[in-house]
Amino acid sequence: MTESALVSIFRFNPEEDDCPRMEEFEIPFDPQKTVLEALQYIYEERDGSLAFRESCKSGFCGTCGMIVNGHPCLACTTYMKKEMTIEPLARHRVIRDLVVELKK
Ligand code: FES
Repeated sequence: MTESALVSIFRFNPEEDDCPRMEEFEIPFDPQKTVLEALQYIYEERDGSLAFRESCKSGFCGTCGMIVNGHPCLACTTYMKKEMTIEPLARHRVIRDLVVELKK
């Protein structure tokens, strides 16, 4: 039997929502997979409206920065846990869900 992971994700679409909410997803747990792969699974299999950023997938560009279980990390180099709370980077304006405004 496949183990499952419980993933709680910050959701907010400023154009439609009055306030942010956390949404939970139960997905197959695989300790070899990254947080980014977990988000891709949720996007492809559960909710195609989930917004997050990715680019190099190898820890170089910083595009996938987010907060996982209270710690800032790169989703493409962080391995998934059985329980994860995923939030956008703090002190940045949320454009949608996990996508924030990155000013240089
Ligand atoms: S996608 Fe470039 S650092 Fe994660």
